[in-house]
Amino acid sequence: MTDNPTILITGASGQLGQIILDQLLEANAQNIIATTRSPEKLADYAAKGVEVRAADFDDPESLATAFAGADRLLLISTDALGVPGKRLNQHKAAVAAAQEAGVSHIAYTSLMNADNSPVTFAPDHDGTEKAIAATSMSYNILRENLYMELLIQELNMGLKSGSLYNARGEGKAAYVTRHDIARAAVADMTSSFDGRRTLDITGPVALSSAEIAELASTITGEPLKHVPVPLEGVIQGMVDAGVPQPVAEVFASFDTAIAQGKLSPASSAVEDLSGTVPTSIADFLTAHKGALLNAD
Ligand SMILES: NC(=O)c1ccc[n+]([C@@H]2O[C@H](COP(=O)([O-])OP(=O)(O)OC[C@H]3O[C@@H](n4cnc5c(N)ncnc54)[C@H](OP(=O)(O)O)[C@@H]3O)[C@@H](O)[C@H]2O)c1
Repeated sequence: MTDNPTILITGASGQLGQIILDQLLEANAQNIIATTRSPEKLADYAAKGVEVRAADFDDPESLATAFAGADRLLLISTDALGVPGKRLNQHKAAVAAAQEAGVSHIAYTSLMNADNSPVTFAPDHDGTEKAIAATSMSYNILRENLYMELLIQELNMGLKSGSLYNARGEGKAAYVTRHDIARAAVADMTSSFDGRRTLDITGPVALSSAEIAELASTITGEPLKHVPVPLEGVIQGMVDAGVPQPVAEVFASFDTAIAQGKLSPASSAVEDLSGTVPTSIADFLTAHKGALLNAD
């Protein structure tokens, strides 16, 4: 590998992508390429020396030019969940283009237990992991837990009624912040790691819904209790609130995954990779106390 590898981040205008670019710049990484469907959104980064290129996984022919010259590439999974098979095809196109462009190392934002999960879109991640394994590139599969940021809205809603309804049972999840996922990805991109590994990217502790409700109640001073309901009730509740049935089923599949323990336990990978202890649920909720009480 060269001394100063060229690092490429796909999907760089997304929420995770921009945090990763910020952290790469803070780490004084040289030779950064950011690809996105919307280069205009990354004008500030171009002004800071990042080479911004257009890339759309739905246009595989655009990817040879977009990925040219990259040594280490982070493939951020897309949000194309609406059309069955679409996301996996997008990711396969990106993996093939990376190999074709001469990328030596690829990292990918996957899902914990991607190969054995009731999450409806887990097969997209599993298929992408297998496509990566079938190349000759070295890789780091970053199997993410749930974003801790997702807790804000659901706890805010729960605090309004005093009840946190879900079908997660006693299951625990090791929620992780986007900033900590970014730390793990940046550590991999800026390292010389050239093996092949699959890591669970989690926060430092896994908690059950009852434990999370108790924490939120203590932090805000408002009553909140976990109320277990059947999966059908969770789906119906979302549909009644205006969520389309297929989307409600996707969200609800995470309840099943948590109930089955697929998002537990916590791993030490974020700290091992980055040297930084990831944010705990307690610290995160304390820092977001205002949003827990006031978000819409
Ligand atoms: N673990 C979790 O709890 C959790 C929660 C939500 C999402 N996710 C996953 O993590 C990813 C990043 O999260 P985020 O918060 O940054 O989401 P986000 O802000 O909604 O970003 C969506 C991402 O999808 C990319 N994308 C969409 N269509 C694309 C295409 N045709 N070609 C290339 N890239 C495409 C976007 O890239 P550009 O717009 O720059 O082209 C962007 O990086 C999501 O896309 C999703 O797969 C995980």
